[in-house]
Amino acid sequence: MTEKKITARSLAGEAQAGRKPAKKKPARKVAPTYKRLRGSRVFITGAGSGIGRATAIRFAAEGANVAIADLRGAKETAAEISGGGGQAVAYDLDVTDAAAVHRVVDKAAKTLGGLDIVCNIAGIGHFANSHEETPEWFDRIVSVNLNGTFYVSRYALPHLLKAYEETGVDGVIVNTASTSGLMGAPWSAAYCASKGGVVNLTRALAYEYRGKGVRVNAIAPGGTNTNIVTSFMNLPPNADYKLMGKIMTPMDQAEPDEMANLFAFIASNEGRYMTGSVVVLDGGITC
Ligand SMILES: NC(=O)c1ccc[n+]([C@@H]2O[C@H](COP(=O)([O-])OP(=O)(O)OC[C@H]3O[C@@H](n4cnc5c(N)ncnc54)[C@H](O)[C@@H]3O)[C@@H](O)[C@H]2O)c1
Repeated sequence: MTEKKITARSLAGEAQAGRKPAKKKPARKVAPTYKRLRGSRVFITGAGSGIGRATAIRFAAEGANVAIADLRGAKETAAEISGGGGQAVAYDLDVTDAAAVHRVVDKAAKTLGGLDIVCNIAGIGHFANSHEETPEWFDRIVSVNLNGTFYVSRYALPHLLKAYEETGVDGVIVNTASTSGLMGAPWSAAYCASKGGVVNLTRALAYEYRGKGVRVNAIAPGGTNTNIVTSFMNLPPNADYKLMGKIMTPMDQAEPDEMANLFAFIASNEGRYMTGSVVVLDGGITC
C-alpha cells in the first residue's frame, strides 16, 4: 500500500469529513456603494497579490488614490485599478531594504501630494521544525513581516503627521498580524515571533501617536485564500499532524475581499475612535 502524503490541504479535507458536502457558494462580490476614502492618499505594501491586492482595489473603489508597492505584481494591480477608472501608481519595493523604503515612500508621497493612510500587508512564512529551521529563513521572515512593517511606518509617519497638521484628520496605519501573532502555532516559530512583534509594534506606535494625529491598528486574519497558503502546504518531516487542529476552523477559508472590507472600515472615518486595536477575523480559530 502506498503511503498518502499528509499536507495542510489533505488535513483541511479531513476536517470536513463526515460533514455534509458544502454547497458551492456563489463568489462573494463586493461592490461598495460608499466612497469613504474619497481623495485619501494611500500607500499599500504587498499589493501585488492576495489580501494587499484586494485592499488596493477596494480602497480605489472607495475613492482613494493608491500607491502600490511589492516585490512583484505591483504594476498589474495598478493597471487593473486604472483600467476600472481608479487612481493608482506602482512601485517595485523590497520592504526589508530600509533605504529603498525611505526613497519609495517619499516618492509616493510626492506623487500623491501627501499620505493619509498606510497599509502594511507584505508578508511571508513557511512551516519548519524549529530544531531544523535555518537562521537565514528565520531572519528573512522576521525581516519582511516585522522590520518591513517598521521601516514603512517609520518613513511614512512624517508624511502622516504633516497631513494631520494640514487637515486635522488623523492619519492611519493598518498593519497585518495573524492569529499566529496571538497564540503559538505549530512549526511557525519565525512567523509567530514576527507577527507577535507586529501586534506589539502596533500597540507601541498607537500609544505614542494617540491623540497626536496618527491612529495605528492591526488586523489578525485566519486562513485566507491567497498564495501564501501554498508556502504553508507541506508539513515538516515527522510532523504530528494533530497539531494542525489549533490553526484550523470548520468554516471556509476567508476570501481576500473580506479582509479588504476590514482594512477599509479601520482606515475610514468610521474607525475614527479605533487605535491600538488588533482585530481578529479568523472564523473562530482563536475563540
Ligand atoms: N492568507 C492567510 O491565510 C493569512 C493569514 C494571516 C495573515 N496573513 C498575512 O496577510 C498578509 C498578506 O498575505 P497574503 O495572504 O495576501 O499572501 P500573498 O502571498 O498573496 O501576498 C503577500 C505579498 O507580499 C509580497 N512580499 C513578500 N515579501 C516582500 C518584500 N520583501 N517586499 C515587498 N513585498 C513582499 C509578495 O510579493 C506578495 O505579493 C501577510 O502579511 C500574511 O502574513 C495571511
